[in-house]
Amino acid sequence: MWFTGLGLAVFGAVLGMLFQFRPQVILVSALFLQLLAYMLGRLFEVIIPGPGSRLHTGNWFWNFMNPGPFNLKEHVAAQIMANTAATAAQACFVFASDDLFYGITVNPGNAIFTLLASQLIGYGFAGLFRAFLVYPTVMLYPQNLIYVNLFDVLHRSKGEMLQGKRLRFFWLVTLAIFVYEWFPEYIAPLLGSFNIVCLCARNSDWVSYIFGGAEANEGMGLLGFGVDWANITSAPFYTPLSTQISNYVGWAVNYFLLPAIFATNVWHSQNFPFISQNLFFENGSIYDQSLILNPDQSLNKTAYEIYGQPWQSGSTVIYNLGINMSIGACIVHIALWYGQDIWTAFMDYVHRRPIDDHHYKRMAVYKEVPMWWYGAVTLGAFITAMVCAYTEKSGLPWWALIVGLIIAALCLPFYGAMWAIAAFTPVISNMFQMLASALIPGSSQANMYFELYSSQTLVQAASMLGDLKLGQYTKLPPRTTFSVQIAGTVVGALLNYVIMQDVVSNERSILLSDEGTRVWSGQQVQSYNANAILWGALGKEIYGPKGPYFVVPLGIVIGLALPFIPWLLYKKTKWEWLKLVNMSVLSYNIGDLAGGTNGYINTWMAIGLTSHFYIRKYRAGWFRKYNYLFGAAVDGGAQIFVFIFSFALAGAGGVTVNFPNWALNPVGNADYCKVTDQEG
Ligand SMILES: *[C@@H]1O[C@H](CO)[C@@H](O)[C@H](O)[C@H]1NC(C)=O
Repeated sequence: MWFTGLGLAVFGAVLGMLFQFRPQVILVSALFLQLLAYMLGRLFEVIIPGPGSRLHTGNWFWNFMNPGPFNLKEHVAAQIMANTAATAAQACFVFASDDLFYGITVNPGNAIFTLLASQLIGYGFAGLFRAFLVYPTVMLYPQNLIYVNLFDVLHRSKGEMLQGKRLRFFWLVTLAIFVYEWFPEYIAPLLGSFNIVCLCARNSDWVSYIFGGAEANEGMGLLGFGVDWANITSAPFYTPLSTQISNYVGWAVNYFLLPAIFATNVWHSQNFPFISQNLFFENGSIYDQSLILNPDQSLNKTAYEIYGQPWQSGSTVIYNLGINMSIGACIVHIALWYGQDIWTAFMDYVHRRPIDDHHYKRMAVYKEVPMWWYGAVTLGAFITAMVCAYTEKSGLPWWALIVGLIIAALCLPFYGAMWAIAAFTPVISNMFQMLASALIPGSSQANMYFELYSSQTLVQAASMLGDLKLGQYTKLPPRTTFSVQIAGTVVGALLNYVIMQDVVSNERSILLSDEGTRVWSGQQVQSYNANAILWGALGKEIYGPKGPYFVVPLGIVIGLALPFIPWLLYKKTKWEWLKLVNMSVLSYNIGDLAGGTNGYINTWMAIGLTSHFYIRKYRAGWFRKYNYLFGAAVDGGAQIFVFIFSFALAGAGGVTVNFPNWALNPVGNADYCKVTDQEG
């Protein structure tokens, strides 16, 4: 378990960080890691001469190394370790931004302790809330059902015909996708962004904006039927129907709202690209933030008067508005529909009443992790954070760190419940950036650190909660879950740091450019930085009541009102479909197409609806046996491909080899849509 888990933690952490610098950010699939863990585990079972191996010698050392067959619980533990490490640590964005945009290099010692502190604080919080965010049945964690399904295929009824068939199905699909992926990603990019409208109208800016979807920031990809599994991922196979439907309605809003904003020139949108994460002068040149910042990165008021405020693409403003609305909506949606359940679970816990969940009941044989373990992790991480905040000149005062953590703890019940029930989490970082700009105005550095310790804490807490639930489903002892999570986090944080340093120094000019390439993109770190400046140095000027983007922070308030609409309607009419309307998911997606490559969006919808609407309902048997496996195979095939491809041909290993241009790999945008002047 330890060998397998640590080995894959290393692998996952490297891959997870690399993906953050690709145009279409995808997360290292837990399913993929789960399979690799199985293969490695079985391999060790056979080749290490312990009791489970044919090479068995009875030697105490080998018995210690290989105490028996690789079982389901070892597998779960190894997978949790690997999966934890595979999530990119947010502190790396702080350091990447500092390096790329501010010329600040944080020394490695400080960087590593900051990384660890910011990754671990959330775990303590998760422990405090586990009684009602993990134990009850209503906290389902839909993603976990896929993992559990695959664990089951791999470990139960070994040797039976049916199991063999499912395994064969899985490997065939994985192999097919691995072979296929060379086409949309390398040989014939048109396949990954096929759009009939682009092919017919190659010379229109507007067609590019609305239908284009081959390159990052090209357009919204309407009617695109690109099939690139690296973009589609396994998400349509596990996302619950209500989340999917709300998501699609949100996407539909993009197609009307974003062009409307651009066409009517709201916020001077036409001066800037239709889609871009950069900041601009009002005349459309890229904003040079160094002109308005003092050497300590605070706002220089005189220079600001001269150069004027930075502007954003209209689509980006809508994207940020949607994010804020979804935060407000998340809290109210959970309170309205699930408040009663959560409260009951909490009171049951307080009064030590038995919890009615059959998985939970069967966990009683294991020792629970004592509260003080979680307390100790939180306290240790908190002290480290406090010390680092001062030694690396983050500009974050002690009280702000405490305020950030307290607010994060207050948000966790809603945030965690949304994750557990809808497989969706709002992007809460915006809210914390706004708070930071109110609390510590004028410093983008302090803003980044405040956001790091508040929003990353929530993200980590949610991941811990999900794994605790996975442990509950598979009967993994809670203390084991706790230890492997911590181990995975530490290994992951260190490797994330190394990879981030490597990419930032080798691909510097691409990361700083507007469009990037099909392979590398600075989109994540650019928009991260743009946000930090906007909120940090200029929060009051731009987002305050007198600023042009005041509607963005107001989004949180608007969001608070939205969930009442379906809820009140439901109270009145009792129409069941109203339960499917998740306003938090819907409003999050109203500007979601303002970035990334979107040529696969419609394919995603088609797959998601086929899987969760048609197959689930009318082919229930097939769904149970193959739906989740198919998702796992998609991630498996596509991610093995991306890993090999990145290093072999796409520049991660230092060399870039381009495929020659031909009909399906044209010069310019791969879908033949016009390269708009503003795009480059
Ligand atoms: C736009 O305005 C900025 C700041 O006033 C100036 O530095 C830049 O040269 C201008 N760009 C163009 C193309 O006029």
